[in-house]
Amino acid sequence: MDSSALSTSDDTADDRSTGYGGGTRKKVALDWMEWGRGWLHVVGEFFFQRISASHLENPLSLPHLDGITCIVTGSTSGIGLEITRQLAEAGAHVVMAVRRTKFAHELIHKWQSEKQGLGLPLNVEVMELDLLSLDSIVQFSKDWNARQAALHALINNAGIFALGEPQRFSKDGYEAHMQVNHLGPALLSMLLIPSLLQGSPSRIINVNSIMHFVGFVDADDMNITSGKRKYTSLAAYSSSKLAQIKFSSILQKRIPAEAGINVICVSPGIVHTNVARDLPKIINSAYHLIPYFIFDAQEGSRSIIFATTDPQVPDYCGMLKADEWPVCPYISHDCRPANASEEAHNLETSQAVWKKTLEMIGLPFDVLEKLIEGQNVDNRYGAKID
Ligand SMILES: NC(=O)c1ccc[n+]([C@@H]2O[C@H](COP(=O)([O-])OP(=O)(O)OC[C@H]3O[C@@H](n4cnc5c(N)ncnc54)[C@H](OP(=O)(O)O)[C@@H]3O)[C@@H](O)[C@H]2O)c1
Repeated sequence: MDSSALSTSDDTADDRSTGYGGGTRKKVALDWMEWGRGWLHVVGEFFFQRISASHLENPLSLPHLDGITCIVTGSTSGIGLEITRQLAEAGAHVVMAVRRTKFAHELIHKWQSEKQGLGLPLNVEVMELDLLSLDSIVQFSKDWNARQAALHALINNAGIFALGEPQRFSKDGYEAHMQVNHLGPALLSMLLIPSLLQGSPSRIINVNSIMHFVGFVDADDMNITSGKRKYTSLAAYSSSKLAQIKFSSILQKRIPAEAGINVICVSPGIVHTNVARDLPKIINSAYHLIPYFIFDAQEGSRSIIFATTDPQVPDYCGMLKADEWPVCPYISHDCRPANASEEAHNLETSQAVWKKTLEMIGLPFDVLEKLIEGQNVDNRYGAKID
């Protein structure tokens, strides 16, 4: 993680604490039973993911994806790198939206040389994106939208889990996990709606996590600074993933079926990547010693690639939309539709997270409706979205 873009909790926590209004007693955390059931899901995925995914090929075989354009965030490492390589090898035009642009160019060069003589050159390009900076997201969107090109899939893959690290905040003043894993992808998704409309039928794929089962989001305390809940990196990570499901649920509900954009959250499973780079050395070594249970990045990429390319996924999304299901489509590590956590089903808090997220990323509450109608949208970052 780029520490220059971050400040510690001591610098800015007081400015962001929003407190609890209302008067009625609000739920401020999962109760012990919910917490226990959540952990059962996590442990179950850990021990049984290989068995439940044993029907899947590795890698998945893909149809020809010529003419399909995908943006993949965080494609320099782990699951994102695998998704990018496989989509590109199937013929898609893939945009690597990354912080480390030089390294991304080196990766493309390596893939091209490995593929030499085996067919057409890969259609991969690199654009700079740092999710810890809302300005960077706006700049990325401006550059992309200026092309007036159709986008078929936005894969919000980049994420952080700074296990055991102290609480940190972005320059925008938001808790780092919440910004990189939820607020940044939410802003990017909204700013790219015009391009996704142009590419319709299109998909927003959010790489989520089974850890959302132990998450809890309080829309009045997105930064975990009010003191009602103790900050831990685990709480921050799991909350950010639950916030993403809640925001996606309202976004998916509000996008009219005719617009042809579906929003899907996907669990990759528990995967051996660089996500554990912040774990203490001893735990990291143990993590490396349990390869039987843990997926490698190629195995972990399957559910995301499936959600991005399978032709039946839009039908499934349409069915849930017609049924007024309270949660967005959620696809599990075994490429099967799954149920998100109980907490994800609470529509009232999902509405609250939707509103708070738009406020935090500087967009008006009717942004989606305006974009769908092709109107310009004013926003505090001055991005031209039309
Ligand atoms: N691994 C698992 O067990 C697991 C389980 C469930 C969900 N997930 C989710 O899967 C996704 C991919 O994670 P991974 O396991 O593949 O981890 P990873 O190997 O650490 O890859 C994370 C990617 O995100 C990028 N990234 C981090 N901060 C960023 C920022 N501020 N702006 C732009 N890009 C940024 C990283 O870029 P740099 O190379 O520049 O650092 C890297 O390319 C994440 O959303 C994670 O939460 C992973």
